[in-house]
Amino acid sequence: MKRMTDAAALLDRLAKGERLEREAYAALIEALSEEGADGLEERLFSLAREKRESVYGRGVYLRGLIEITSFCKNDCYYCGIRHSNRHAGRYRLSEADILDCCEAGWALGLHTFVLQGGEDPALRPDSVARLVEIIKARYPACAVTLSLGEWPREVYEAWFRAGADRYLLRHETANLAHYRRLHPPALSPQRRKACLRQLKEIGYQAGAGFLVGSPWQTPDLLAEDLCFLAGLCPHMVGIGPFIPHSETPFAHFPAGSVRQTLHLIALVRLILPQALIPATTALATLASDGYERGMLAGANVVMPNLTPQKEREQYQLYENKRTGDTAAGKLAQLERQMRAIGYHLDLSRGDSKLDTMIEGG
Ligand code: 5AD
Repeated sequence: MKRMTDAAALLDRLAKGERLEREAYAALIEALSEEGADGLEERLFSLAREKRESVYGRGVYLRGLIEITSFCKNDCYYCGIRHSNRHAGRYRLSEADILDCCEAGWALGLHTFVLQGGEDPALRPDSVARLVEIIKARYPACAVTLSLGEWPREVYEAWFRAGADRYLLRHETANLAHYRRLHPPALSPQRRKACLRQLKEIGYQAGAGFLVGSPWQTPDLLAEDLCFLAGLCPHMVGIGPFIPHSETPFAHFPAGSVRQTLHLIALVRLILPQALIPATTALATLASDGYERGMLAGANVVMPNLTPQKEREQYQLYENKRTGDTAAGKLAQLERQMRAIGYHLDLSRGDSKLDTMIEGG
């Protein structure tokens, strides 16, 4: 009981805008995971909602997701499209295919296109730049987000000059040793973090993020993720539960918990009030009401999928990925779901308030 009151006091400090020590974040995460933490959890969610509504109101921003390639040269141990998975269906959308997806998204009223893919060795930086230019010329009012993994600074700069506004690159886990247990030796946690800092320096709205419930994760490691985010101060934070994929080395690890994912969404909302935080497809895959519960924990973005159905089914980062009702064509249904919890879809570009907040003091 004493622990619960201590934890509640920590929550109040967080809600006032204080930064906590790593140990305090870990204690909070641990307390939230205990039996009988319902009161604490409800307090956390309501503080997070209050914070979100004070910055962004009750609108839910939409990002149209286009999974442009399922080829990947990397071999992340958790990921279904890892290079070594010989059974993964591989495809690469053509420029014309991608532009068709944008057109379909624009017709639905979507104003942000997220071009996401594996680290496809055939992806040419020039072609991506050209594609970004074409999209921005066709839809000058839109935002283009790239999520294409690690590239040299010059490439990030060229894509930014071509008009890309935002870049998503989850850090996956902030702890160096833990990162090495989730990835093969060719991938470096330091390089990952350096990429994120570069993206911010170049002027992108940058998105970081992590898996919840990845193998060997502890409350202390999650606390390290929170400290890392507090230091980096990204514009966007993607947080999703780990979901095992049978064709990966992590096939037999249990999935992350929906509840813990919601706790982390809410804590990140309190630490970074101005962040754009999606209720992720992974969350909606583990819980049929994942989008609603994500919103009620402080998230404010949903990413409807614009990838053509045939390819979408091959982009399996994890198994049983929700593909049908996350389709962009189901916006009316999503709107009803959001209305039912007192929120509504916001079709504007929905930029991060981070920069204006800094400029405005
Ligand atoms: N379970 C959940 N999320 C995953 N991702 C990759 N593999 C999995 C998995 N098995 C996430 C990673 C990556 C994002 C695009 O998808 O965090 O950054």
